[in-house]
Amino acid sequence: MGTQVAASTHELRKVYGKGEASVAALDGIDLDIGAGQFTAIMGPSGSGKSTLMHCLAGLDSVTSGRAHIGDTDITRLKEKDLTRLRRDRVGFIFQAFNLIPTLTAEENILLPLAIAGRKPDQQWFDLVIDTVGLRNRLGHRPNELSGGQQQRVACARALVSKPSIIFADEPTGNLDSTSGAEVLGFLRRSVDEFDQTIVMVTHDPVAASHTDRVLFLADGRIVDELWEPDRETVLERMVALTNGAH
Ligand SMILES: Nc1ncnc2c1ncn2[C@@H]1O[C@H](COP(=O)(O)OP(=O)(O)O)[C@@H](O)[C@H]1O
Ligand SMILES: [Mg+2]
Repeated sequence: MGTQVAASTHELRKVYGKGEASVAALDGIDLDIGAGQFTAIMGPSGSGKSTLMHCLAGLDSVTSGRAHIGDTDITRLKEKDLTRLRRDRVGFIFQAFNLIPTLTAEENILLPLAIAGRKPDQQWFDLVIDTVGLRNRLGHRPNELSGGQQQRVACARALVSKPSIIFADEPTGNLDSTSGAEVLGFLRRSVDEFDQTIVMVTHDPVAASHTDRVLFLADGRIVDELWEPDRETVLERMVALTNGAH
């Protein structure tokens, strides 16, 4: 267990801008994301969380260093191959649910597969739908669903293509605590029951406590990590880092 690596980086750097105005959003990141693990990325605003996720997911280019999804070095892929990799092997869940308002829940969930020209595996689709609890909401449009239900649609959409890794950027950031807990519980189940790999950016210690491992970023570097986090230990580390202990 835990030997397979779903994603990794080596001396990853991302610099925005040029000359004196340049910012090293990522300043030498080395990490391994184990397959079948739920990883949280935390850190103050501007510490590089979103940039790290975007570079890992092939949504943004890197300045130097390497980033792998499985065995594939995504920093060396041509745009066409990168697009295919994102489509076939990566799932995304964003803070703003990014659902298409004119499509039903079911159509939204199946859209990525339709775009890829793939047919859904009916048994898998049913399992995902029942796990997220959307069985009797499939015909509803996003504006007929609560925020929590919309985010569960986005989770189902990410899961249905069986990606090797799912990236979630503050997926519960816009939800009330009850809906947020539902979504987190569902993400946890998809790791435990389907062996899904998830990387989630969050600033919420309760959200982080649902994960297996928390990586703490500051100024574009990994400055701390915590396995089997609970709310209190995450809070303690956050306070320590904010007080400049790194
Ligand atoms: N597109 C961009 N252009 C210029 N600077 C950027 C861009 N995106 C992010 N940055 C800068 O990179 C740093 C890290 O940003 P970001 O990854 O969004 O942090 P976080 O998600 O932790 O809040 C910040 O200093 C931010 O201002
Ligand atoms: Mg961010």
